[in-house]
Amino acid sequence: MPLPSRVTLVEVGPRDGLQNEPRPVDVATRIALVDRLAAAGLPVVEAGSFVSARWVPQMADSAAVLSGLSRRPGTRYPVLVPNMKGFDAAMAAGADEVAVFTAASEAFCQRNINCSIADSLDRFAPVCRAAADRGVPVRGYVSCVLGCPYEGEITPQAVATVARRLAEIGCAEISLGDTIGVGTPGRARGMVEAVAEEVPVDRLAAHFHDTYGQALANILAVMEAGIAVIDTSVAGLGGCPYARGASGNVATEDVLYMLDGLDIGTGVDLGRVVEAGRFICDALGRGPESRVARAMAGGSA
Ligand code: HMG
Ligand code: MG
Repeated sequence: MPLPSRVTLVEVGPRDGLQNEPRPVDVATRIALVDRLAAAGLPVVEAGSFVSARWVPQMADSAAVLSGLSRRPGTRYPVLVPNMKGFDAAMAAGADEVAVFTAASEAFCQRNINCSIADSLDRFAPVCRAAADRGVPVRGYVSCVLGCPYEGEITPQAVATVARRLAEIGCAEISLGDTIGVGTPGRARGMVEAVAEEVPVDRLAAHFHDTYGQALANILAVMEAGIAVIDTSVAGLGGCPYARGASGNVATEDVLYMLDGLDIGTGVDLGRVVEAGRFICDALGRGPESRVARAMAGGSA
């Protein structure tokens, strides 16, 4: 398949990135980060997560983050919800788009959301119904699509089955997450092709972590299989609190540099994303994981 002429970047740094920081980042900084990323032209910026603060303290106060945003017309600000409790809280906070999340691995699902895959889908079905009643789009995440820290190898068929179930209960888009970043391009492409047998590829998104330095190659491979929605994280922030050893999500700056080089349109300004990355890295007291951000700062000249 030819490469897409346009790609939608879904910025997950303020959620997937910050949820993994050892110290919680204050609400004002989280708001400023989301606003900066939206101002850079990112069309979708995940703003937080309505999960148990005992499980993920970093995402507490997501309601305050949502209410403090300078919402840009046309920008979407989804939040994660694991159940109806989270959905109700998200709606009360003014969210207009949500994401549910499960896994292709039973062991990971259990550790992440304390239930089986089947039970997670049972929890999500009422969320999808309530969301449909309100006209709120739902994204479904599948974790561990190319390997699991507890179960090892995951088959493409296991991923396809979960993705199909998410689509059936009403998820408009399914994001396929290589949570621990073990995938390589051939396997990534094969997995997407298997899932696309069950869910049309234009409803699929790719979510890569860069643990083994394969993320950009994987993204190119899955774009060749028809993927045109890609999750990225500013400055490569992230990891996963329930996936030991998972390094950051692929950096927004690095994906953007590649897409710009391929003349694939995104509407995103690389320089402004680099600035947003510098802003959050200063707040965290460390440098960006993005190679492009480091090169643009003169570090690799
Ligand atoms: P549980 O303990 O089984 O839930 O946790 P429960 O229903 O038994 O409730 C226990 C307590 O949690 C109760 O409070 C509930 O009210 C409360 P208590 O009575 O003990 O005071 N509770 C909630 N509080 C706030 N918000 C809620 C909520 N629900 C229940 N929505 C639960 C189950 C799902 C809540 C928990 O396991 C949880 O919050 N997990 C979150 C895990 C998480 O956020 N992981 C990271 C996101 S996934 C990810 O990063 C992967 C992704 O990026 C893709 C990829 O890379 O693979 C998306
Ligand atoms: Mg992730």
